[in-house]
Amino acid sequence: MYNQNQAEIFTSGNEGVCSLASIFDEIPDIYKNREALSHRFVPEGLPHREGELKELASYLKHAIKNFTPPNILVLGHTGTGKTVTVKKVLGELSRVVGDKVDIAYLVASGTKFQILNEIAMELNPNVSFKGLGFKEAWNRFRRMLDKDKITIIVLDEIDKMLPSESDLLYFLSREERVCIISISNKINVLDMITDRRVLSSFNPIKMVFPKYNAEQLGDILEYRAKEAFYDGVLDNEVIPLCAAFAMDREGDARYALDLLMYAGDEAIRRMNSKVTVEHVKIARKKLEEDFIRNSIRNLSLTQKLLLFAVMKKEGESPRSIYTLCNEYLERYTGNTLTHRRLSSLLGDLELYGFVTYERRGRGRGKGTRWSLYLNDTLDRNLIISVLKEELAEERRV
Ligand SMILES: Nc1ncnc2c1ncn2[C@@H]1O[C@H](COP(=O)(O)OP(=O)(O)O)[C@@H](O)[C@H]1O
Ligand SMILES: [Mg+2]
Repeated sequence: MYNQNQAEIFTSGNEGVCSLASIFDEIPDIYKNREALSHRFVPEGLPHREGELKELASYLKHAIKNFTPPNILVLGHTGTGKTVTVKKVLGELSRVVGDKVDIAYLVASGTKFQILNEIAMELNPNVSFKGLGFKEAWNRFRRMLDKDKITIIVLDEIDKMLPSESDLLYFLSREERVCIISISNKINVLDMITDRRVLSSFNPIKMVFPKYNAEQLGDILEYRAKEAFYDGVLDNEVIPLCAAFAMDREGDARYALDLLMYAGDEAIRRMNSKVTVEHVKIARKKLEEDFIRNSIRNLSLTQKLLLFAVMKKEGESPRSIYTLCNEYLERYTGNTLTHRRLSSLLGDLELYGFVTYERRGRGRGKGTRWSLYLNDTLDRNLIISVLKEELAEERRV
């Protein structure tokens, strides 16, 4: 148990021992509400999304009169406010109609069974289809739908369930009194549905959310910062710089907000009571590192080994990299892969921006030679240290 005497040991006036009693007081208090910058926070207003809010509301208004709204597909780049806009309108709808409309929101990843189970649990937390087959689960799901009400199901990031689980979309979209709101970053997501039956029964109204420009991002940040920070905490250039950096990420508002929060945290860590441009620059670096860390974590073991081989043999030909990679593979898994397979995995690494190919002529009639390099915009030390951590972990497993 916590013992007050323990605290007193530190406050006994002993030179060189810090006083715990005031340790929190010394830390600058810059946040009024740090949560207001988080991903989960649904803000009161959404600057520059008035049109989208109204359009969505115009479709969903039918539910107030107990008619089924049309199915909707919300498209747009990451961080254009799709999820928050949909949540906002649905929040307002349920405020107006109370429990006369059933609403389920979920990210549509997993098998059709898992997704169906999650929808059911969203509608009624006591329901679980565990242990059932999909058919049986579907039949039970149909029975639990209350046909006196409209049911609205939001399938966020719907591309994750396509095309493999598109059956579920077919079944859901054929149900009466069910409205499906789907959301995706992939502009061509409908092309992922190959079955014409699914397309014709789903048949959504499309809404495309445009990217934010720097000025709009500035307004959004300003708005969220008002809630998050005390007055006067942010230097004048902080928000414009966050907005400018986010423009390099196609106007991603989530990234802009993350930058602002990391910058605020950095200021506190350095015991500064003002957030400055310096803090934003450090925040950008940290976010970059997090991003790289996550990207490497998401690679397969073979891709990690392949990337490691590229770094060991930079400037060499694909063939010599495949050979080294197979040596590693042999040690880690006891198996090797064909050059053809490795070449396709290497292609993925190029696509993700980890490696680049350079083409060198060998002189007339002697064909060309390819050399492989780590993408030089990346921080090599960071990549090596993350790869080493990851590979040690794989070994342990
Ligand atoms: N117009 C806006 N006003 C205030 N915050 C916004 C606005 N647009 C996006 N955001 C915030 O930016 C982040 C990303 O938005 P989100 O809806 O998750 O984007 P998407 O679903 O398009 O990827 C969220 O924290 C969201 O609250
Ligand atoms: Mg989203």
